[in-house]
Amino acid sequence: MAKFPEGFLWGGATAANQFEGAWDVDGKGASVADVVTGGDVNTPRMIDPSLDPAKYYPNHDGIDFYHTYESDIALMAEMGFKTFRMSIAWTRIFPTGMEEEPNEAGLAFYDRVFDCLRSHGIEPLVTISHYEMPYALVDEMNGWEDRRCIDHFIRYAKCVLDRYHDKVTYWLTFNEINCGLASGGASTSTGTFKGYTGPRTELPFDLSVRYTAVHNQFVASAKTVLYAHEHYPKLKIGDMCIYVPYYYRTCAPDDILLSQQVMQRVNYFTSDVHVRGYYPGYMKRYFADNGITVKMEEGDEELLRAGTVDFCTFSYYMSNCVSCDETLEKTGGNLFGGVKNPYLKASDWGWQIDPKGLRWSLNEMWDRYQKPLMVVENGMGAFDKPGDDGVVHDDYRIEYLRQHIQQMGEAVEDGVELMGYTMWGCIDLVSASTGEMAKRYGFIYVDKHDDGTGTGERSRKDSFYWYKKCIESNGQDLA
Ligand code: BG6
Repeated sequence: MAKFPEGFLWGGATAANQFEGAWDVDGKGASVADVVTGGDVNTPRMIDPSLDPAKYYPNHDGIDFYHTYESDIALMAEMGFKTFRMSIAWTRIFPTGMEEEPNEAGLAFYDRVFDCLRSHGIEPLVTISHYEMPYALVDEMNGWEDRRCIDHFIRYAKCVLDRYHDKVTYWLTFNEINCGLASGGASTSTGTFKGYTGPRTELPFDLSVRYTAVHNQFVASAKTVLYAHEHYPKLKIGDMCIYVPYYYRTCAPDDILLSQQVMQRVNYFTSDVHVRGYYPGYMKRYFADNGITVKMEEGDEELLRAGTVDFCTFSYYMSNCVSCDETLEKTGGNLFGGVKNPYLKASDWGWQIDPKGLRWSLNEMWDRYQKPLMVVENGMGAFDKPGDDGVVHDDYRIEYLRQHIQQMGEAVEDGVELMGYTMWGCIDLVSASTGEMAKRYGFIYVDKHDDGTGTGERSRKDSFYWYKKCIESNGQDLA
């Protein structure tokens, strides 16, 4: 059995907008997640900022972690979590993003959460921006397309670093920053949908706007890293990208080249900038070939070079294939779809399950960057149903996690420097893509449903006890 390093950070991951609820409590403002209705695998979520009382906005209530954090954290502690990945809701601290002074009630909430985690010996891992920018910034300036967004973000980032630097050592700047370049990323990440209402599948998609928005996020991230390094040298700041292997479907040289290009643009572009500090040549060529103009300012290049991250993190759920043959069967996926892989099975949402792809990805990332890595999202969305005994017997999830953790162990044996693993959605929460509660990931079941009904009661699934053993044995007991 492959060994994990001592002090390996086992834990779980969440995002404020998907589980806190209390969307307008204690001065919180509306975020981009608060203006989206619920959907399912066949029905897109709708953007409706009118906040129509006749519609259901699942992120408004989440699973009410805002009020249940103490008992939820106690359950995580029972599993033996070493770390807990969470995000701070920007709109709790700066409700519109444009205030000069922060909202003390919002800051006090995260003090309570971090203190509670620490009292259980759990190290917080905090994403500063996870799909929850203030909606007011969309309305005012088309989100990250506007450079003023950088200053608003930096005011927020400095505020939380100043406040929590004694309580939080590990920080991530933007969740899945490369998601801003996927079609749905306008709603979740770049906020470039001013004036838009309608299905989230038809969002505005102008490549120059998207790349400019992501550039502004790069600058914001670099400035955050520089501020943290200068004022709080003990802090570690990482980046966070989606990683989806795009295998070539055949050995035709055209497919191989296409696979390389998609890998570069989807998986490596954003981490290349974060880790190496400059735009890679392949992107400059892509911009030129496609008439894309990225608005940059003097001094940006120097900032990017100076503000590189200390460690790299990524989400890994699935893999895809690519091919020049357009007639091949397609499959869905986490933001970026692709060509179906005949060797893999998929989840009920069409995400192809590929544990060995995780070992491959870790090796690729390590070879490329030689920076400590962390898998900060991985897991399986499934329709969990409690059995007659009231317990969810989620052997399918255990199998998914067992195989992924085994492959992670193999990657460690391959020489990859891996700091930790946080399973996504360790407690059931609202799905980012579909807005469903029915797409469950957790070790902890939450009695909450897609029509908003349910007691909110928490219960332990079989995977809860399995993960506890996994952590206790530092990844040795996966039976
Ligand atoms: C990641 C996001 O892309 O995937 C999470 O960072 C998200 O916010 C997770 O929840 C799983 O996706 P989904 O759509 O099943 O919730």
